[in-house]
Amino acid sequence: MSPAGDVPAQMTAAYITEPGTADAIRVGPLPTPRPAADQVLVRTEALVVNHVDTFVRSGAYRTALPSPFVIGRDLVGTVVQVGSTATGFAVGDRVWCNSLGHGGRQGSFAQYAAVPAERLYRLPDGVDAESAAVVLHTAATAHLGLFREAGLRLGETIIVGGAAGGVGSCVVQLAAAAGARVIATARPDDADWCRGCGAAEVVDYRDPELFARLAELAPDGADVYWDNAGVHDLEHAVPLLARRGRIIAMAGMSATPTLPVGQLYVRDASIRGFAISNAGVDDLAAAAKVVNHGLKSGILKARIADRLPLAQAADAHRRQEAGPHGRILVVP
Ligand SMILES: NC(=O)c1ccc[n+]([C@@H]2O[C@H](COP(=O)([O-])OP(=O)(O)OC[C@H]3O[C@@H](n4cnc5c(N)ncnc54)[C@H](OP(=O)(O)O)[C@@H]3O)[C@@H](O)[C@H]2O)c1
Repeated sequence: MSPAGDVPAQMTAAYITEPGTADAIRVGPLPTPRPAADQVLVRTEALVVNHVDTFVRSGAYRTALPSPFVIGRDLVGTVVQVGSTATGFAVGDRVWCNSLGHGGRQGSFAQYAAVPAERLYRLPDGVDAESAAVVLHTAATAHLGLFREAGLRLGETIIVGGAAGGVGSCVVQLAAAAGARVIATARPDDADWCRGCGAAEVVDYRDPELFARLAELAPDGADVYWDNAGVHDLEHAVPLLARRGRIIAMAGMSATPTLPVGQLYVRDASIRGFAISNAGVDDLAAAAKVVNHGLKSGILKARIADRLPLAQAADAHRRQEAGPHGRILVVP
């Protein structure tokens, strides 16, 4: 292992001892993790709250958790120690990870985190920690849905529902950058943001004629339909699809929509569901390349709704659960 340098024996962490509301989150000292041979110890610089972090904390998303469990999935930071068999990293490297805090792994909401080297990626030069942190989960999700699941191609048309949110913004940004025509739904206040992300058209999702408007804007049908709000009005969405259209399902855990089966199969259409939590290290590494390209090129960006210290991790979760208009950053 590389020299420990001035890594303290204890660190401040936000953790739970059992699932519960945000009130279950404690902030206090825990032993600084010692990286295993295949891990890298990272001193964190920027953290962010995702919806899934609140589901893991509450127990709504069941996954193996150590106890005490440090909450949080994503981090940006600097390498301070490298395990003996961990390759590709050196002390001082600026790095990021977006797959801690589930599947038995400790989370990221602490001053230090031991990260498996295969889940750690270099932060591109010139990219600041906060700008990166706010898109790590959302952009990787957008990449998996658009390219692994939907197989989006140049010149295709995609309808993005709830396009101004965390994932929606990244879906618009990556789809537009890939040469797709993007039709977004968002509240009118967010129309300029969506256009800035690359949407060709923006429709108010509360418009009573929403689906008629979408049909007018996609007269040849939509190749991909992606609903970030989890509403899944399939009775109206499926008839909007072009031949071989793909609906992406990635939100709306308890939605039980009516599916117009005939409208689906006569189009050779399909519904593809996925959860990034199931992605393996190869898929995550492929997404990381896209995230880094998007950060370097400026394609990927997000709005920051709030910036809270780690001591206020519970408030950060409450803010996320209240539905913030932008991303909630946490500064360790
Ligand atoms: N499956 C996966 O791998 C995966 C990964 C990441 C996230 N997710 C899930 O994806 C969903 C979105 O995540 P996020 O981080 O993007 O959340 P978010 O930032 O809260 O965005 C949700 C968006 O939906 C919009 N919206 C609300 N009601 C709507 C409606 N009736 N019609 C259209 N849009 C509506 C919101 O608009 P307003 O601001 O106007 O309310 C907001 O822009 C969450 O359920 C999350 O758990 C799943």
